[in-house]
Amino acid sequence: SSPLRLGIAGLGTVGAGVIRLLETNADLITARAGRPLKVVAVSARDRTRDRGVNVSGLRWYDNAVDLVTDPEVDVVVELIGGAEGPARALVEAALQAGKPVVTANKALLAIHGPALAQVSAEKSAPLLFEAAVAGGIPAIKTVREGLAADRLLRIGGILNGTCNYILTVMRETGKDFGSVLADAQQLGYAEADPSTDIDGLDAAHKLTILAGLAFGRPVAFDSVHVEGIRRIGAADLSFARKLGYRIKLLGLARVGDAGLEARVTPCLVPEDAPIAQVDGVFNAVVAEGAFAGRLMIEGRGAGAGPTASAVTADLIDIARGSHIPVWGVQVSDMQPVRACPLS
Ligand code: NDP
Ligand code: HSE
Repeated sequence: SSPLRLGIAGLGTVGAGVIRLLETNADLITARAGRPLKVVAVSARDRTRDRGVNVSGLRWYDNAVDLVTDPEVDVVVELIGGAEGPARALVEAALQAGKPVVTANKALLAIHGPALAQVSAEKSAPLLFEAAVAGGIPAIKTVREGLAADRLLRIGGILNGTCNYILTVMRETGKDFGSVLADAQQLGYAEADPSTDIDGLDAAHKLTILAGLAFGRPVAFDSVHVEGIRRIGAADLSFARKLGYRIKLLGLARVGDAGLEARVTPCLVPEDAPIAQVDGVFNAVVAEGAFAGRLMIEGRGAGAGPTASAVTADLIDIARGSHIPVWGVQVSDMQPVRACPLS
């Protein structure tokens, strides 16, 4: 059967990872998708950069938005990053043109998700983003599909691999914050601007997305309370250990008496709690449903392999025609709900 033809914008950690995965697992992906997935066009800034994957036979666009008008591109894969600029322009243009979009861009979805979901619904253009939350953990599918029948009471977890890696390595080795952050950047875990990670914004982007899915309507990102790990030092980690705790950056959202509560903060967690054992680049997504009860899924939250796995699972869904609406249901009122201030 005819291939699903892909146009990939962004050939960094994730984009190159997707091309590598599509090549390595071509046979099983074709079997599961029911047709081959074929990259036909790409876009990045630097044509000369060695990316460790062969892009020589592919059409190259300096302007990513040109992928949309390429008649051979069936699906646009946005792996540039950033809530504005070329990533936003590309995703908006693709959906407006009725082309399906797969993205790993949590900043874009947290801030512009409601508007993009509306265009996706109006144009019947799927918008899939499994990779945007918790890297290789199928967090979106778990919340939106696995727990579809339940009323969720709370959602959250360890949602940033870079911060968890920094806190873990500092605790275990005594290395200083700056050098561990540099390692995380080298390993491809950090955002292009790593302050997005360490100031808690990236975890807040993911919490905004998860809470929207869990509670069935979009959440206003600017109402989420956000604190990062910049001020956590060796002494804090050592005192926590002496008292039997670990420090974890947690994002948590729940519907309380006053309405939606959503916060990202460093927390002291008893060291025998399951979430305290989630170390390094690993993330944990925790949820509690009225019927399902509590659950926690753990896995690699960042890096080329896990993220490429999630992006490609979305592409297989599109090839099979098995995608679903952004919030799980068609929401008529896209006005985001605001989290209440911390008491
Ligand atoms: P990188 O910085 O490694 O790659 C970004 C890519 O975008 C580069 O190839 C760059 O080109 C390209 N790019 C930048 N500007 C433009 C433009 N104007 N037009 C076309 N291409 C452009 O980022 P990542 O791969 O790490 O992240 C990509 C996305 O995935 C982000 O949204 C990120 O938040 C998300 N993500 C990342 C994860 C990770 O572990 N790294 C995990 C989950 C999600 P060039 O190479 O030529 O400079
Ligand atoms: N910078 C992000 C993190 C990438 O460290 O978790 C995965 O979303």
